[in-house]
Amino acid sequence: MSGGFNAGEETAVMMSAPKDAPAIEATGLTRIYHLGASDVVGLDHVDIQVPAGQMVVLKGNSGSGKSTLLALLAGLDRPTSGRLFVTGRDLQKASEAELTRFRRDVVGMVFQSFNLLPTLTVEENICLPALLAGRPVAESRSKSGELLQWLDLAARRHHLPAQLSGGEMQRTAIARALINNPEIILADEPTGNLDSRNGETVIRLLAELNRGLGRTVVIATHSTLADRFAGMTVTLKDGKITERA
Ligand SMILES: Nc1ncnc2c1ncn2[C@@H]1O[C@H](COP(=O)(O)OP(=O)(O)OP(=O)(O)O)[C@@H](O)[C@H]1O
Ligand SMILES: [Mg+2]
Repeated sequence: MSGGFNAGEETAVMMSAPKDAPAIEATGLTRIYHLGASDVVGLDHVDIQVPAGQMVVLKGNSGSGKSTLLALLAGLDRPTSGRLFVTGRDLQKASEAELTRFRRDVVGMVFQSFNLLPTLTVEENICLPALLAGRPVAESRSKSGELLQWLDLAARRHHLPAQLSGGEMQRTAIARALINNPEIILADEPTGNLDSRNGETVIRLLAELNRGLGRTVVIATHSTLADRFAGMTVTLKDGKITERA
């Protein structure tokens, strides 16, 4: 499996990743939300280093900053201040076009609410990021076929999201997150809408990606399901890291 950017684009050089870079390197990472006259602190001078291939569990009460941190790591949002390198790429300096490619090619995101497109079939949802990346249809479908097998979704290939169980929807979302061979997988409460059996399956799949394929995985969760797989546990409170284990 190969990751990284398509070559030949004008910004590829700046966003090219140094070999053996840590998965995550943040210094003084801060995100302040401006709401009218008041400021809300989402993340407050967070320093964190995560080696490639690590499985990180992010903990903390509601409002502690987990989703804020994941959104910054995913290139969905930008820090107010501080430095942030993900897979060696400088996200603070990245242009919008670079961030778009970063989101598409380097990270795979999994959300609590699945975020599947309702009018597309399972297979179409999974293939969409590959097609947006300009990959050939045949190659995308073959990769999606492998993922469907692995995730026990082959029989659901032509179904719409509304025809799936919650566990099937989340497995579809995992396949979609993996179709472009991301280097890092970010999951925000991936078990939040699942019963415990399906929640366990999802965590086990994420752990398999970490252990079997060496992908860096970061999971924000209130549940203890991921604890036994965690190589690193980071606890946030009021936007600050209060504990690392
Ligand atoms: N878009 C936004 N605008 C304003 N404030 C925000 C925004 N997003 C998050 N916040 C605030 O930033 C802080 C951190 O929120 P965040 O969503 O990161 O917490 P969380 O740890 O993910 O919580 P939860 O466990 O409930 O998902 C909270 O005080 C929250 O209200
Ligand atoms: Mg959250």
